Amino acid sequence: MQEHGEPLWQLILESTEIEVDVFLSMRQYDDTTTLSLIAASAQATNMEVDAFLESFGFYWLTVFAPTDYGALLKLTGDDPFAFLRNLNVLHERISTSFLEFRPPVFSVIQVSDECIELQYNSTRKGLTSFVEGILRGLPTMLNVTMVVELMERAAVQQGEQSLFRITKAGAQRGRS
Ligand code: HEM
Repeated sequence: MQEHGEPLWQLILESTEIEVDVFLSMRQYDDTTTLSLIAASAQATNMEVDAFLESFGFYWLTVFAPTDYGALLKLTGDDPFAFLRNLNVLHERISTSFLEFRPPVFSVIQVSDECIELQYNSTRKGLTSFVEGILRGLPTMLNVTMVVELMERAAVQQGEQSLFRITKAGAQRGRS
C-alpha cells in the first residue's frame, strides 16, 4: 500500500477530479468522494475493488492504525474476541472527535468457546471487503492465529449487512 507513495496519490486525485482541500483533518467528506477514491485507487493499482478494499483494510489495521491510534487499539483489548466485542465502544469513544459521525454497528454471537459470529451493519454500501481486510489483519496485530470466513453479504435498504465467522486457531481440527 504505502510503497506507491505520493506520486500515485496525486494521479489518483487527478483522475477523480476531487479538490484536495476537501481532505481537512478529522472532517467528514461525503460518501461519493470516498467511493470514487476507492474506485480510482483500485484502478491505479490494477486490482478489483473488493480485492483493493481487503488489502487496504489489512494495511489500515496493521500499519496505519497502530501508529495513529495505538492507545485506542490497546484499550479495545488484546484478545481477538474481546476486541471484536468492543468495536462499538471503540467507535463511541471517538464519536465526539468527528463531525456527523456515522460509524458501523457490530454485534457478536458466541458460537462456542473458540468461535464467534460477527455481524457488520452499515448505512453505506460496498465496504464489507474493507471489514474483511481489517479482520484478517487482526491476528497479525494481536499476534494470534485465527480463521476469518465471510458467511453472508447482503445489500439492505439503507446500506449493507454481512456476517463473518471467526475461529481461534486449532479449534477447527477434528470434531469427533
Ligand atoms: C483505532 C481504531 C479505529 C478508529 C480510530 C476508527 C475510526 C473510524 C471512523 C472515524 C470512521 C468514519 C465514520 C464516519 O465518518 O461516519 C470509521 C468507520 C468505519 N470503521 Fe472504524 N475505526 C477504528 C477501528 C475499526 C475496526 C477495528 C473496524 C473493524 C472492522 C472498523 C470498521 C469500520 C468501518 C467498516 C467503517 C466504515 C463506515 C461504515 O461501515 O459505514 N473500524 N471508523
